[in-house]
Amino acid sequence: MSESVSQPESTKQGSTEPEPTTIYSSPSPRRRTTVRDLAEAKRAGRRWVMLTCYDALTAQLFDEAGVPVLLVGDSAANVVFGHDSTLPITVDDLIPLVQGVSRGSHNALVVADLPFGSYQANAEQALQSATRFLKEAGAHAVKLEGGVQVLPQVEALVAAGIPVMAHLGLTPQSVHALGGYRVQGRGEAGQTLLQDAKAMQAAGAFAVVLELVPSELAAQVTASLAIPTVGIGAGPQTDAQVLVWQDLLGLTPNPAPRFVRRYADLRGTITDAVCRWTKDVETGRYPAADESYR
Ligand code: KIV
Repeated sequence: MSESVSQPESTKQGSTEPEPTTIYSSPSPRRRTTVRDLAEAKRAGRRWVMLTCYDALTAQLFDEAGVPVLLVGDSAANVVFGHDSTLPITVDDLIPLVQGVSRGSHNALVVADLPFGSYQANAEQALQSATRFLKEAGAHAVKLEGGVQVLPQVEALVAAGIPVMAHLGLTPQSVHALGGYRVQGRGEAGQTLLQDAKAMQAAGAFAVVLELVPSELAAQVTASLAIPTVGIGAGPQTDAQVLVWQDLLGLTPNPAPRFVRRYADLRGTITDAVCRWTKDVETGRYPAADESYR
């Protein structure tokens, strides 16, 4: 079993190294994961996880569980705002969610997704949007979708000191151009994706999400890059895995996509609890005397 990236080397129990402190250090005994930790994990062959997150309370839970990277994804358009695609969500919609996740976590690297229309125009637009996430919301990095067509944007962000996570394969912001949510990179398209991944690395991206691509292609990209790959529907050989937390914990309705494994049934748990509470109120069993004030 590979060691987790979630506990940096210098903070492991029994380590003789002093705890690294900076003027930015949090009240937590552990420091936040950094992009350097993720680079080191790749070198050491340690696998890690990234989980989506949209509010302070779940951020606290996932942080305590040791999730090293929290992504405030534009999937919030679906799971928070109820849209049927990620296209409508804006920077203004996402800023308060990123603020909640930044406040609720002390150890995770917080990555903010640049939403559709906030970076495609040019490098200047990307810089303005990304700057808002770091300045106003406490994000530590941003993610954007696309290959060589967003190269100037990635270069500008990296030059400004903003860590960038790239996103290739199924890029949901291009759902209409792709003709639906379908597997990408089959056949010759795989070589284009590999070239895109190399271009993102050369531009300074610190990681690349690979969404819905054949396992073999994901393995080839992972072996070809010095930066970590983060798979979702990309098979077992990427350096890290990411899921939307409501899929992982069984809050979204069935059927889930094939790549989702549900580790809990929160939909059932919540429905059952709310039904029991409703019944208790209706039958006068809630609140009891010791749940009331004199
Ligand atoms: O928006 C999102 O949640 C994502 C992940 C699924 C990678 O982009």
